[in-house]
Amino acid sequence: MVRVSSVKEIMSSCVDFSVLERYNDTSGLKRIGSVSEDVRSLFSSEFLKYANGLFFDLKDREIDTVVFSVFLDQNCLDYVLNQLDGKKVLIVVHHFFDIDCGYQESSSGTDSFFCEPELYKRLYASKVQICVLHLPLDINSSRINTHKSFLENVWGAKKLQQAIYSFPFAEMGYYLHLEKEAFNFVEQFDKILYYGNQYANCNDAIQGLRTICDSRPLKVAVWSGMTNTTDILKEMENQKCDFCLCGDVIIRNRSDRSAKVLTYLENMPLNVFCVSHYQSELFALKDLAKKLESLKKDLHVHVIEDKEIWK
Ligand SMILES: [Fe+2]
Repeated sequence: MVRVSSVKEIMSSCVDFSVLERYNDTSGLKRIGSVSEDVRSLFSSEFLKYANGLFFDLKDREIDTVVFSVFLDQNCLDYVLNQLDGKKVLIVVHHFFDIDCGYQESSSGTDSFFCEPELYKRLYASKVQICVLHLPLDINSSRINTHKSFLENVWGAKKLQQAIYSFPFAEMGYYLHLEKEAFNFVEQFDKILYYGNQYANCNDAIQGLRTICDSRPLKVAVWSGMTNTTDILKEMENQKCDFCLCGDVIIRNRSDRSAKVLTYLENMPLNVFCVSHYQSELFALKDLAKKLESLKKDLHVHVIEDKEIWK
């Protein structure tokens, strides 16, 4: 048995929670605004203050299992409630609700969740604890962050160490110069989406860039999760990047913002490859799980790992 506080301590040593003070973004609150009051009352005051990326009702109980999951979805809950019986479990989840859904004009709030909001009551009654680690995981100052883990998985830690850590931009992603290994990611993901106007399709784009690679290294911008504004893309263009490798771009909903980004994507010279939001963020959770497992041998640590999810 391990106390939640000692798990929290280990996570705090890997993830920089102080960034939450700087990113006091309460927009997430609007997205859960229409959740019924009794469900809403289950959220801790910390969670309601920041909404995006905080501990959710974390009490210092004894636990025997920590389950990591990118989304708090049915898969995760089935495992915790049905297979583990939920009693002494802490769930560490990257996305508590679908941050993209919140941008839909028609969003009711409740459609932002990956499961029925009522299920939170069942979770609460089962004493399962939930910890949300979105924002701190995104930031470079965290020892484990989504961008770094994504990069290391795609291109290997050793080779990249120098290049990666010296090119952070916008306090989020990284730029790096790559030669032949620039295209290693192609083999690793089942489905890659391509945007840009230089090449007709994904294969053409990869071939075209491979050719450029024969004469000079490519400048690559790497951004795990979602590149969600034209400003980010513009900055990559200004920095003369040959391509951007990211999880996804904000085009899944029918908001004005999505339409604007899609038009921009289709007309810009930058090449953007998306490997799925889920796939790009899973690696950081796996790294965190590995760290926890190595320090707490008597704790069962499990990562919910679904096959390719295009989300
Ligand atoms: Fe994300």
